[in-house]
Amino acid sequence: MKDDISKVRLSYGRAISRSGFLPQFYDIFLASDRAIALKFVNTDLEKQQELLAMSVNMVILFPQENKIAKNAVGRIRKSHCREGLNIEPHFYGLWKSSLIQAVSEYDVEYTSQIEASWQKVLQIAIDHIVEGY
Ligand code: HEM
Repeated sequence: MKDDISKVRLSYGRAISRSGFLPQFYDIFLASDRAIALKFVNTDLEKQQELLAMSVNMVILFPQENKIAKNAVGRIRKSHCREGLNIEPHFYGLWKSSLIQAVSEYDVEYTSQIEASWQKVLQIAIDHIVEGY
């Protein structure tokens, strides 16, 4: 897992350093399901992109028992639950595949091995958030 996390951190660093990466993620994610686009109709997407950029770092560090990441992902678990933003569990698969699709387009060193690491690493925080639904 340690090795997967370092691969993912480097890959994310390469992707996010190129302009257009975060808007591309939102384009893919919002187009993936009409219900998702509807949830973001009143959202300032520019602000949301900044929040996402930071929270992806937290999601990546979460499997390492990092304290700050645990708190951050715990907060997302609370805000996205049934009584909060009410993000149904099936949406997280689309979140994950949209992020990985955007990374594959923006990480110039992307490989299928890096993709496998992304899949593994993201799933751990997602499982934790979904358990709190
Ligand atoms: C692991 C995956 C995800 C992460 C890391 C994440 C992260 C965040 C963060 C940091 C915020 C802002 C602060 C907060 O409320 O906690 C937020 C808000 C939000 N998220 Fe997520 N999110 C994830 C998955 C999803 C999914 C699958 C959806 C499905 C539609 C979603 C929809 C929303 C909405 C609608 C908001 C509120 C936007 C607003 O303020 O108008 N999120 N998310």
